[in-house]
Amino acid sequence: MPDPSQMLLQYSLRQRFRWLLPPAPVWHNPDEWKVDSPLGRWNLYIGSAGSHAPGYVNLDLFPLKNVDVAANAELLPFLDNQFTRVECDAVLEHAEFPDKIIREIERVLKPGGYAHIVVPFCHPYHAYPADFRRYTPEGLRQLAGALEVAAEGWRTGPTATLLVTILEYAKLWMPTRPLRGAVHIVLGWCLFPLRYLDAILLRSPNSRILGNHCYIWLRKPA
Ligand SMILES: C[S@@+](CC[C@H](N)C(=O)[O-])C[C@H]1O[C@@H](n2cnc3c(N)ncnc32)[C@H](O)[C@@H]1O
Repeated sequence: MPDPSQMLLQYSLRQRFRWLLPPAPVWHNPDEWKVDSPLGRWNLYIGSAGSHAPGYVNLDLFPLKNVDVAANAELLPFLDNQFTRVECDAVLEHAEFPDKIIREIERVLKPGGYAHIVVPFCHPYHAYPADFRRYTPEGLRQLAGALEVAAEGWRTGPTATLLVTILEYAKLWMPTRPLRGAVHIVLGWCLFPLRYLDAILLRSPNSRILGNHCYIWLRKPA
């Protein structure tokens, strides 16, 4: 496990230079948001990584800027049945015991409340602070337990997989961090328009072969 102070430094550098970075080479599938699950009085965002999600209690493993609660989501510091909506986006692959996080989400959700979970399938290694696994949609569904599956699909598709792989491959050839940063910015800006090809590819069920991130909406039975 990396040193937490190193992680904090890395996160704050990313935050500071975010304005220089190109838009991520991924196109977000709009179907992902078609579930009718309005925010309630209390909503929880797990793993905000320092960005502020309005309308949510922002929780992260580290006390970053904009984080309201620093805690491990494997043991959420909240009472049962508190939240109308829980967002857990690109976190489970970093957790030692992801099934514990899902059971905690189930516990803190209000009956009738929704959880939206996003995980990577074909995606480069990225440690926040570790990187343990990848998921298929079937693997994600297996975690649901007593929660009902309200919807599922792909957030980002095969073109996102290709573009992030090219980007990370090119960075492998760069010997220093500043050079890797420069490649990320220049190549990232050149590649990002191609991400819209996923608007076509994601219509095919075969896109799952190289899908980038999949999602699931889970509902706690009322
Ligand atoms: C890849 S980042 C995702 C950031 C953001 N959700 C997004 O999609 O852009 C993963 C975040 O989850 C946090 N995280 C990892 N394991 C966690 C855990 N067990 N409990 C709470 N947060 C965790 C990390 O500190 C990091 O901020």
